[in-house]
Parts: sequence; structure tokens; C-alpha cells
Amino acid sequence: MKIIQNIKEMQQEIRYSKSLGKSIGFVPTMGALHEGHLSLVKEAQRENDIIVMSVFVNPLQFGPNEDFECYPRNVEKDAALAEDAGVHYLFYPDASEMYPKPLSVKMLVKERVNVLCGAKREGHFDGVVTVLTKLFHIIQPEKVYFGLKDAQQIAVIEGLVEDYFFPIEVVRVPTVREIDGLAKSSRNVYLSETERAEAPALYESLKRAKEKIENGRDDPEEVKNSIKDFLSLHITGAIDYIEIYSYPKLERVEKLQGEIIIALAVQFKEARLIDNIIINV
Ligand code: PAF
Repeated sequence: MKIIQNIKEMQQEIRYSKSLGKSIGFVPTMGALHEGHLSLVKEAQRENDIIVMSVFVNPLQFGPNEDFECYPRNVEKDAALAEDAGVHYLFYPDASEMYPKPLSVKMLVKERVNVLCGAKREGHFDGVVTVLTKLFHIIQPEKVYFGLKDAQQIAVIEGLVEDYFFPIEVVRVPTVREIDGLAKSSRNVYLSETERAEAPALYESLKRAKEKIENGRDDPEEVKNSIKDFLSLHITGAIDYIEIYSYPKLERVEKLQGEIIIALAVQFKEARLIDNIIINV
């Protein structure tokens, strides 16, 4: 695996791979790699000749009160995990490489952002699409891989790719789960023993809702209430939201039909957990 910090050098390698007719699969990350990221690499390996992973903690997508400074950074560990997983190029630029001067053109996401977690993170997705536009131009992948755990991010990126005609396929990779169904997340370690025992109820509530919909329930409010009732019985954490939207447009629906997402967020004492399920009704 080659570690590259410089954009020009990365572009040269990409030109070389393309001249050999190789297809490129891209896994953008902010590092602190875990099994979720490695599942993206695995998926990318099945479908591409060359795997490029980027590790870049993008300052533009952090709000003033968010954890940019203390976001975990350990490039040696990430590089070892990426190499083991079969990544060919680890692109690891620093902020002055990616943002050498103030931007003269700014990107503003107008749809799919003011709901779910995006509702409380003003400007976050503007930062995500800005950095991805830069990365897509540098790496020029045929396919790019994202985890469905952050389904809103995928929805926004699909909008970006569609609006700006990027010749890239966005691949939605299923959420990696613990054996009891809890979505894997670096935040799970902050759960107390009791909370950890309760946490699988999040996914259980989503599966039960899916079953209800498959059995013909089509009123979003009724389904949301059933999730709320189930969670109230099984968890001590506070429900932040339970929402149902069309996917990937993330618009309100009167009736459950077509592709929909059921998404929820729960605040435990030290950890805020999110989960979702996407269903084609
Ligand atoms: O999901 C992430 O890690 C980041 O939002 C991404 C897509 C790498 C952009 O910085």
C-alpha cells in the first residue's frame, strides 16, 4: 500500500492506473477506522481493481461546538488496518493541501439536510459535499462506498452526484451490526452495562415497524407511535427523534409507499445512538 499526502502525486498514480484500464473504487473516511469502514473496503474489493481510501478530518464539516480538535487521529493504526484490508492507496492530505486558500466558490446543500441529524448540524453537509467534490476530482473513481448507518449522508451525496453529473456510482453498504443487532459504532463503548443491554431494542423496534408495514400498515404516525411505545418500555435513554421519510429525498410522506426510511436517534447518558432501516414498500 502506498501512502500519499500530495494531490499531484495522487493524480499521477490515478492517471497511471487508468492508463492500464484499471477500475477505481474509493472509500472516503476521516480515519479512526473500524469494522464499518473495513466492510466498505471489502465491498469495494469485490467490484474494482484498485482501492483508494482517503483519511482526512475535514474541518469544513465541523460546527463551532463540535469535536474537530479532539476527533481521534491515529494514522499509523489506520494505515495498518487499511493495508491489512487490501487498500492500494491511502490518500492522507493535510488541511493546507486540501484547502490551500479560502474558497472562491462555496457549496450549499438545499435539500435533504434540514431533517434527522442534519437539522441540528447547520452547514455540516455543505462541508461534506465540498470535500467530496474535491476528492472525487482527485481520485476519479468509478464507484464510491458509504455506509447506510449514515443514510442521510448517502442521500445528500446521491443528490450531489446527480446534480453535478459526476460519472460515479454511489454504493450503499449495509450497516455492520453486533450479533444482538446493535449497529456498530465507536460510541457504543460509552454505554453503561445496563444501557448496552438495552441498546439492541433500537434495531428491534425498527424491525418490528418493518414487519408492521409489510403486513399492510401504511400510516406513518401509527408506525412511529408503535416504535415509541416499544422503546419507552425497553430503554432508559431519551428518544431524540423517530422519523419516517421518503428515501433518498427525505420528504414527509402521508402514506407508506415506495422507498422509505425509518430513522431514530436516542440519547443515552454518554452516548447518542442512531439507527435506521430502509424499506421498499
Ligand atoms: O463519513 C465521513 O467520514 C465523512 O463525512 C466523509 C464522507 C469522509 C467526508 O469527510
